[in-house]
Parts: sequence; structure tokens; C-alpha cells
Amino acid sequence: MAHITILAIESSCDETSASVVRDGVVLNNVVATQKVHEEYGGVVPELASRAHQQNIIPVVEQALKEAKVEKKELSAIAFTRGPGLLGALLVGTAYAKSMALALNIPLIEVNHMQAHILAHYIDDPKPPFPFLCLTVSGGHTQLVVVKSHLEMEVVGKTLDDAVGEAFDKSAKLLGLPYPGGPLIDRYAQEGDPHRFEFPLSEMEGYNYSFSGIKTAILYFLQKEKRKDADFVAHNLKDICASIQYTFIKMLMQKLKRASRELKIRHIAIAGGVSANKGLRETLAAEAEKQKWTVYFPDFQYCTDNAGMIAIAAHYKYLAKDFCEQTVAPDPRLAI
Ligand code: KG4
Ligand code: ZN
Repeated sequence: MAHITILAIESSCDETSASVVRDGVVLNNVVATQKVHEEYGGVVPELASRAHQQNIIPVVEQALKEAKVEKKELSAIAFTRGPGLLGALLVGTAYAKSMALALNIPLIEVNHMQAHILAHYIDDPKPPFPFLCLTVSGGHTQLVVVKSHLEMEVVGKTLDDAVGEAFDKSAKLLGLPYPGGPLIDRYAQEGDPHRFEFPLSEMEGYNYSFSGIKTAILYFLQKEKRKDADFVAHNLKDICASIQYTFIKMLMQKLKRASRELKIRHIAIAGGVSANKGLRETLAAEAEKQKWTVYFPDFQYCTDNAGMIAIAAHYKYLAKDFCEQTVAPDPRLAI
């Protein structure tokens, strides 16, 4: 039987990535991280778009070369259609469309948030359906009931900032470089999470809010700095641990409630913030108490990558879910 070999491209934010999947096995995951945004303290959309244009050809060529796959062997080309930055998405979309047209093979559009979840199907153990996935990234915070590879229902989400954004903005208040999430994680490991207390926001249902706590942190730092100008430097580890503890507590509250009420005990996390060590440890500890089976993606598949786009495309290929050449990127594409 002929192989199903798909080239997948991810360009929704600040990573240009390409991956080749053959018969459901992800062969590689080439990621070019854009350093240009660091000095601006956040992703600059226009610069992201330009960097994708520079990176996309070498990244795709490297992915094909590493996988020892020639273009003529490809069964389909997949790309991230959204959600993400329009200018960034356009680069991957245009590239994928041209390549599919030139090779006369099907084109597969992939939802970036679905792909974060489907990253769990790259390696073992793979969660059985239905499972509950807490998807936590720089742009999203969602509780998703995953019914099959392609059927997902968002039961809760943030009504303002995403938790990754809250990590990054808090880090910025502490004078840490972008993206600050991983740095807060690192300092938190050596800090006291109970040293400072921040208010938890209460939202309806399984929804979240992270903008209030960000403001609370701002006021807290302003107040403490009036007493000690070097407050942050003197207490960095404890501040990071306390902020992280609060974010995790908020994430866990709704997750526990959703699991209990929806009676789902297979729990997964996905997205950039799922790399957070504190979140992983809390989830592992909670799993014992709640009798959960928990699933963590490999670190390389937590933050943005084309491996997850590739595995999502594989399942779409099996379902013959192809798209037309007229397809356009959608910055607000919903699950
Ligand atoms: O999924 P992702 O790579 O991009 C989006 O689709 O948004 O997520 C990026 C986010 C950033 O906010 C980054 O600070 C956060 O994930 N992040 C972390 C950690 N690693 C990445 N946040 C907390 N702890 C980490 N270890
Ligand atoms: Zn992402």
C-alpha cells in the first residue's frame, strides 16, 4: 500500500516550523524561533511576518532533507490556517497553497488549537476518548472535551487574557525579558509559593479570567517598591513562585470541577504553558487524589511546532478532509 506522507507548516506566531509525517509517524520537527522580538518585549506582527518569509524555504528544505523525503513522494501539504497573526499565517498559507498546486496534491488546513491537543497522538501514551484537555498558550486558555481526533468541544475559556500572556506580562513587570513564562517557571522552582498572596478571580462555569490578577500584581509591586526600591531583586524567586502558584490554582479549580461534573478522568494539558514544571507537578499530585490518568506532551510539542500540525493533518487526510485553493487564513479560527 502506498504511504501517506504529509509535509506540514506552522507559521501562526513567532516560530517558523516544518515537519514530515509518514503513516501517522512524525519523522521530524524543524523549528526556527524568531529572536527578533526579544528586544521589543513581545511579538511584533510585521517583524514576525518578515522573519517567516526569510525562514520558510530553509525550514521546509531541512525538514524534507532530514526525513529523506522528496517532494514527489508527498501525499498532501498541510498548514496552520488559524488562529494566529494574520500576516504570519499568510506566509505559511501562501507557501502551502503554491506547493500543493505545483505538485498537484491535496491541501489540508489545520486549526492551531486542535493541533496543540492532537500533539498527544505523536507519542505514547495516547489518551483515549473522551478526555478533557486544558489548553494553555500565549493566546488561549481553554478547557476542551475531546471526543475524537477531529471532534472537540470548548466547555470553558478565558474571558480576557490567556494564562501564557499573564505569565509574560507579569514577567515584564518584574523586568524579565520576553517570553517571561519559562523564566518565572525557573525562578519559581526555588521560591516560596506562599510568601505573597494574590486574589483569585471567580468566573462563571468553566471560564477563566487572568486580567485582574495581572493588575493586582502591578499594584502590589508599586506598593512594595515604595518601601524598598529593590524589592523585586530581593524577592524575585518568592514573587515568581507566588504568581505561578496563583495561576496554577486558578487553572486547577476549573479543571477539577469540569472533570467532576462531566465525569471525565482522562486529563491532558497542551500548549506552551503545559511546559510549566509547577503545573505538571500539581497535575501529577492531583492525579493521585482524583484518580485521574494524566497526559503530558513532550516538551518539544508544547510550544508552537509543526509536528502537531503534521499529526492533525494525518487524521484529516484519513477523513479526506481537504480544502480548496481559495482557502484564506483566519486569525480567529475557532475549534
Ligand atoms: O503555544 P505557544 O508556544 O504559542 C501560542 O500559541 O501562544 O505558547 C507560548 C506561551 C508563552 O506565553 C510562554 O511564556 C508560555 O507559553 N510558556 C510558559 C512556559 N513555556 C512557555 N509559561 C510558563 N512556564 C513555562 N515553562
Ligand atoms: Zn500555540
